Amino acid sequence: MKRHAIYPGTFDPFTNGHLDVLERALTIFEKVIVVIAENSKKQTLFSAKERSAMIETVTASLPGVSVEVLHSGLLAEYAREMGATAIIRGVRQVKDFEYEFQMSLLNRHLNPEVTTVFLMPNVKYTYVASSIIKEVAMLGGDVSKFVHPQVLTMLENKCMEQKP
Ligand code: PNS
Repeated sequence: MKRHAIYPGTFDPFTNGHLDVLERALTIFEKVIVVIAENSKKQTLFSAKERSAMIETVTASLPGVSVEVLHSGLLAEYAREMGATAIIRGVRQVKDFEYEFQMSLLNRHLNPEVTTVFLMPNVKYTYVASSIIKEVAMLGGDVSKFVHPQVLTMLENKCMEQKP
């Protein structure tokens, strides 16, 4: 049986840490759908369309990857519709666990057929988070080691757009 997974997140922007987790997921699953979803606690810098184009570029050479946007509704329901058996989540630090644990159990309650799989990125990405990358980039700092060149260009363009 071909098992496939969904890899949801805000991905604002998609970092090399996200890419590392995705590549690890592809060693386990034949197909992984990257799902750009809404986190009610976050305001995004990039639109869903921009993030979708960004992730498509970054993952263009990876077989078995597709990118979708979840515009509304529950992720657990989306997983059911897609027939996904797993939800991939990257964890970097122990502090990520409380929130991840809660989400995982809620998603299991909503859809008992889906299991959350936690993957740890390479240790060099343990301190890479989209929020901090955005902050540093918008203040003119060098984040080129943490994002794909296309993401870097998109960050630079946003920075220009937002300058008075
Ligand atoms: O990258 P993030 O912000 O940590 O990802 C969180 C995300 C988007 C995966 C989560 O907020 C989510 O699943 N949103 C979709 C709506 C949903 O199902 N919410 C209930 C989650 S238990």
